[in-house]
Amino acid sequence: MKICCIGAGYVGGPTMAMIAKQCPEVEVTVVDINAERIAAWQTDELPIYEPGLLEVVREARGRNLFFSTEVDDAIRAADVVFVSVNTPTKTFGEGAGRASDLQYWELCARRIKEVSTSDKIIVEKSTLPVRTADAMERVLHAGDNPVHFEVLSNPEFLAEGTAIADLENPDRVLIGGHETEAGQRALQTLVDVYAHWIPRERILTSNVWSSELSKLTANAFLAQRVSSINAISQLCEATEADVAEVANAIGTDSRIGPKFLKASVGFGGSCFKKDILNLVYLCETYGLDEAAAYWQQVVEMNEFQQTRFVKTILHSMFNTIAGKRIAVLGFAFKADTGDTRESPAIKVCRELALERAEVVVSDPKALGNAKQDLEGVESVVFEADPYAAVAGAHAVAVLTDWEAYKTLDFERIYAAMEKPAFLFDGRNMLDHAALHAMGFEVYSIGKGRLSHLD
Ligand SMILES: NC(=O)c1ccc[n+]([C@@H]2O[C@H](COP(=O)([O-])OP(=O)(O)OC[C@H]3O[C@@H](n4cnc5c(N)ncnc54)[C@H](O)[C@@H]3O)[C@@H](O)[C@H]2O)c1
Repeated sequence: MKICCIGAGYVGGPTMAMIAKQCPEVEVTVVDINAERIAAWQTDELPIYEPGLLEVVREARGRNLFFSTEVDDAIRAADVVFVSVNTPTKTFGEGAGRASDLQYWELCARRIKEVSTSDKIIVEKSTLPVRTADAMERVLHAGDNPVHFEVLSNPEFLAEGTAIADLENPDRVLIGGHETEAGQRALQTLVDVYAHWIPRERILTSNVWSSELSKLTANAFLAQRVSSINAISQLCEATEADVAEVANAIGTDSRIGPKFLKASVGFGGSCFKKDILNLVYLCETYGLDEAAAYWQQVVEMNEFQQTRFVKTILHSMFNTIAGKRIAVLGFAFKADTGDTRESPAIKVCRELALERAEVVVSDPKALGNAKQDLEGVESVVFEADPYAAVAGAHAVAVLTDWEAYKTLDFERIYAAMEKPAFLFDGRNMLDHAALHAMGFEVYSIGKGRLSHLD
């Protein structure tokens, strides 16, 4: 069997590397129009950072895993074509700011139709609005092309930072197919690929529309938990309740469960916001205004939490941060990734700069992306070494939960800072009592502040 994957990004690269590793008899070619990205996949300096990814790529690359810019050749040769291109939020025209921009997906569909000379299974790997397969089938089968394309939905549930573990041992794989003979045959073909390493009971099958909608729904539910606990974090700050204690108390209820209940400066990443906005847009399209407003609030709560964090910094530092050096530790949207898309750090740094603070950004993996995200923002500098970043700072703000930040020498940091030395823990990850004992003014999310100034 030959598989082609269009899109060598955060999803296409790792998922195809895993399929190639687990199915040595399947030839997998990942193609992209971005030649730089493809070139990087061919070296040991991969274009994305993901723990364990290089080992998986190295095992299969050159054996049955190939990266190429020859899109047409790879499509033509394939039995199964995964489409894993970006589906960002539309920035123009109808639905701007909310609907998915499907232009890259549609371009792929047109390309597939154009170059194919044999029947193919087309797999939606990108996250798409429910009923996209319908539109794609119309594009693929337009005209008098004798080739048959069977479209499956196979959304990806991996999380960046743990992509390899998620792909190796997923909670479930979801495959949606049409309830026709050809649809079920195609579905079985893909089930057989995943069954190389995933227990059959964890490979869920459904109709195409349920599968498409499940991906948007999964992300909306995950993000909703973060916004829910963040909403409670505000109430905790007003009432001397401790959000970590509340989260623990509710999370031990097996009906609620403990995951995604950590109060923070907010969720980020390329998917949550875009997928919820897409869900909102879909609800509105079907005239479901109350459902749309319900999900919209999850995004608004998240943005408010970021602004609220900046306000906490400003108000606790005597209502002025103009000219003050603020060291931002962590710019990636979460630990173990260099990805900064929709990272709360972007908004926080921009708002700090608007208050004319001197912002110093540090991150072990994301400084390249951070520089692009903050291009044109005055008074921002970048410093890979966290100790250099904090030297002479009035405040430290922790925005990414990098494990390494837990073991920083905070005595040394305190000594290097202006006094009073403020520490704002946007990830509730540090030992606040110990930091307070060292002399820091400590602010976290949803917990009382620990101050020496009262
Ligand atoms: N990043 C995640 O954690 C994640 C998780 C689950 C699902 N998804 C979904 O997967 C999809 C891909 O996300 P990503 O993060 O990998 O995006 P990405 O931007 O990292 O990668 C997409 C790639 O597609 C390429 N591309 C675009 N149009 C092309 C074309 N016509 N021909 C060939 N290549 C083309 C781009 O050059 C890019 O390299 C999105 O729909 C996203 O919502 C992402």
